[in-house]
Amino acid sequence: MKKKIVLIGANSSLAKQLIKKLKNTTQLLQLTRNNVDVVKSFEKLKKILNHFKPSIIVNCVGVTKFLECEKDPSNAYLVNSNFPIKLSEYTKGRNILLIHFSTEAVYEDGLKQLPNENTPPNPSTIYGNSKYIADMALLRAENTLIIRLPTLVGPTQDHQIINKILKKLNLGQKVFVSKDIYSTPINTVDFSNFFLKDIIFKKTFYKKKIIHLCSKKRLSTYQIIKKIVNEKEVIQRIIPVSENFFKNKFVKPKKLGLKSIYKKCTRIFKYE
Ligand SMILES: NC(=O)c1ccc[n+]([C@@H]2O[C@H](COP(=O)([O-])OP(=O)(O)OC[C@H]3O[C@@H](n4cnc5c(N)ncnc54)[C@H](OP(=O)(O)O)[C@@H]3O)[C@@H](O)[C@H]2O)c1
Repeated sequence: MKKKIVLIGANSSLAKQLIKKLKNTTQLLQLTRNNVDVVKSFEKLKKILNHFKPSIIVNCVGVTKFLECEKDPSNAYLVNSNFPIKLSEYTKGRNILLIHFSTEAVYEDGLKQLPNENTPPNPSTIYGNSKYIADMALLRAENTLIIRLPTLVGPTQDHQIINKILKKLNLGQKVFVSKDIYSTPINTVDFSNFFLKDIIFKKTFYKKKIIHLCSKKRLSTYQIIKKIVNEKEVIQRIIPVSENFFKNKFVKPKKLGLKSIYKKCTRIFKYE
């Protein structure tokens, strides 16, 4: 019998990639905001879950942009903290595994050593703090697995910086790219394979409570782009600049990134 999985936040960029792997291999129920607003209608969500009876819930819902969280903290806390906590209360005693995604943004900016699963978080942004509150609660709950992620690069990550830059380059435009915003990026194609094989089927990490997925070395956005783009003519149109060049009102953390104590969670970053 195929595993019964509910994926909440099915329109999220990460979810779109995971769905490609899950849809033919599991009995998958995809829920978007159109099906249920998880903040306004949690009771409706509970009814759907009671009816479907999943063995796994994957939560891809989030307010994921730093600026959006700073502008509307109350929504950020409702979606990023309260909702996963309510989900973990729902799964309690029901023999359902809750898989939830967290972020490198729970750590402070500029740590000399990359933080691993045992490093205590210390967020400096509303986004990071709202995610950290859920992490703390889910760590204490039964049957939960938190997967902390760095910058994601992949075909479905269209609202993110790397794909936006690549789109401009494909249009023949010149682009200014940060040389001082760092992460330990992973490719979502590689991650979705790992997610299906190691997490869902082999259950390797079910008992670990929290894992970090990451590549080995911090790379700046500029370095990531240079790894993806080969043609000389295109490379000439990429101009490395400091993040300050963009004169954003909100100062983003510059040096994030993750490290893992598990060998399998340390991935090789390749663009496919
Ligand atoms: N992308 C990254 O680089 C990255 C890095 C680290 C961690 N993560 C974590 O990975 C997870 C997925 O991230 P993502 O980038 O794929 O997210 P995303 O593309 O920003 O999508 C978030 C989804 O949440 C949904 N949502 C927000 N509020 C909702 C509500 N009240 N009711 C129902 N749905 C709601 C949105 O629905 P609409 O489409 O209707 O707006 C959207 O589909 C998040 O937990 C994030 O923190 C992502």
